[in-house]
Amino acid sequence: ADALKVGIAGLGTVGAAVVQLLSKHGGQIATKTGRAVTVTAVSARDRTRDRGIDVSAFEWFTDPVEMARTADVDIFVELIGGDNGPAEESVRAALARGIHVVTANKALLARHGVELAVLAEANDACLNYEAAVAGGIPIVKTLRESMASNDISRIYGILNGTCNYILTRMEAEGISFQDCLSDAQRLGYAEADPTFDIEGNDTAHKLAILTSLAFGTEISSDDIYVEGITSITTADIQAADELGFRIKLLGVAQRTDTGIEQRVHPTMVPKSSAIARIDGVLNAVAVDGDFVGEIVLVGPGAGGNATASSVVADLADIARGDETPVLGMPAAELNSYQRARMRLH
Ligand code: HSE
Repeated sequence: ADALKVGIAGLGTVGAAVVQLLSKHGGQIATKTGRAVTVTAVSARDRTRDRGIDVSAFEWFTDPVEMARTADVDIFVELIGGDNGPAEESVRAALARGIHVVTANKALLARHGVELAVLAEANDACLNYEAAVAGGIPIVKTLRESMASNDISRIYGILNGTCNYILTRMEAEGISFQDCLSDAQRLGYAEADPTFDIEGNDTAHKLAILTSLAFGTEISSDDIYVEGITSITTADIQAADELGFRIKLLGVAQRTDTGIEQRVHPTMVPKSSAIARIDGVLNAVAVDGDFVGEIVLVGPGAGGNATASSVVADLADIARGDETPVLGMPAAELNSYQRARMRLH
């Protein structure tokens, strides 16, 4: 088959790493999937900026919506960010043309995931988003594929690399919250607006996506109790330490008698637990399945290369011809199915 043509919207830390990954491993991806994947178009504001990549061969767009509407591509990769504006408009435009979409945008999915899933399905397009949750950890595939055989009772974890990095360094080195956050921004971990990280919203967006995959509910972050880490001081961390605990920002979703409970807040975890030993930018996701028991996946939760690894995994799935329904079940069934069955709270 012809090579799959990819357009990348947004050439920041992750976009540039996707270009690098494909140029380094394009050959093995073609061998493993049976089809080559090539970047042919990109969209970003400034063509002259040094990103450490050669952009001369790409068709260049300054407007991602125009790229989504007009570019000759098979896959549109959305790495712009934001739950509305150009990210939303360009994804809708691409799906409406039947172009597959790969996105790392958890905020967009948390807000418009169901509509976008319905649009994708109506146009026979894939909507893949492995990179939207827990960076490099293949948790979306794990839930869609490996855990399809299990009834899940609980899913929880550390879902924000920036917060875990801040908490780890505050504890280990006694560095101030603000200095840790500045370093996380410099390293390319934080969101464009880092309040999303530290106030817990980014964790909530990811949790909403995981809940939908794990429990077959409609994706929604509105009903999640959210508390971030902005009020945590080094004194709190020391006090927890003396009692034998560490403080971690957790996202938790579990089945209860009345529905699916979802919450995000700083949690004291015993030092002896596996989750307490997840340091720095690492994320961890634990899933309880009725047949498998508990599995835990650990890996980098943010950063260009790790996130690019997940983006390209989604491209490889499309190259392989895998068209798993977008939210773990056919999107068209989602609305009636979930409303009848569960209430999120
Ligand atoms: N800002 C996010 C984090 C990036 O720190 O986890 C990955 O989604």
